[in-house]
Amino acid sequence: MSLAGKTAVITGASSGIGYAIACHMASLKINLVLLGRNTSKLEEMRSVYQDRVCVDVFRTDFLEESQIQETAHQIIENIDTIDILVHSAGLYSRGEFTASSMSALDELYLVNLRAPFLLTKLLLPTIKKKEGQIIVINSSCGLKANAGISQYSAVKHGVKAMTDSLRGEVNKDGVRVLSLFLGRTATPMQAFVHKLEKKSYHPANFIQPEDVAEIVISSLNIPHRTEITDIIIRPTMKLS
Ligand SMILES: NC(=O)c1ccc[n+]([C@@H]2O[C@H](COP(=O)([O-])OP(=O)(O)OC[C@H]3O[C@@H](n4cnc5c(N)ncnc54)[C@H](OP(=O)(O)O)[C@@H]3O)[C@@H](O)[C@H]2O)c1
Repeated sequence: MSLAGKTAVITGASSGIGYAIACHMASLKINLVLLGRNTSKLEEMRSVYQDRVCVDVFRTDFLEESQIQETAHQIIENIDTIDILVHSAGLYSRGEFTASSMSALDELYLVNLRAPFLLTKLLLPTIKKKEGQIIVINSSCGLKANAGISQYSAVKHGVKAMTDSLRGEVNKDGVRVLSLFLGRTATPMQAFVHKLEKKSYHPANFIQPEDVAEIVISSLNIPHRTEITDIIIRPTMKLS
């Protein structure tokens, strides 16, 4: 199945996994609708890919509901078709329960759960028209909660619940919904995780964002009669 000419809305497109997915999609001639706050990065992507595909950029802060509403409105008005929606924007925090900041929990909830919920809700009628594909970048922490990451894990478990329930509702409209549960992936977020853990960071030991992008594209290439619902990806535990 050719993906050329399809249109993908990608959140968190300015960095890490979302960036790798956007670049891989552009190489396959998928038109890009890029969301993030780092507009200089998104504009740089536009200048690299605009000769090959249509690239639209929307600066959207997921902490602000009005900005999500406005972006969704603009996408519906100006883009017209959405074949693929990729949720990759996300924040991380860690810390023991007693030291946890409630404002950090509120931010995690807003960016990692509420924003993708609202954006999906607003774009769903347009996605249904194309019998599209929704892809949610989740975490191994969305399946199992270990000590020290109660807030991040709680929100990622919530994202799993949202995704599973959504799938149950929209499959009848021909919309497929895929969750990817990732282990440690070499992105700026993982560098930050290592800093919090006070560990030295060796990105080559981890999943590369390009590997995730390749898996996403493979799933999109599966005939529409078949749906992949969940993929668990982790770094190979090679003994050195
Ligand atoms: N890296 C890992 O080891 C790992 C493992 C499992 C799951 N994940 C998940 O993978 C997803 C992508 O993470 P990543 O590793 O690629 O991290 P990253 O490199 O830090 O990228 C995070 C992205 O989220 C966007 N973002 C953050 N706050 C935002 C806000 N307030 N409004 C709008 N966008 C915001 C950032 O865009 P701007 O800065 O432009 O706003 C950026 O593009 C996240 O959901 C993360 O939880 C990552």
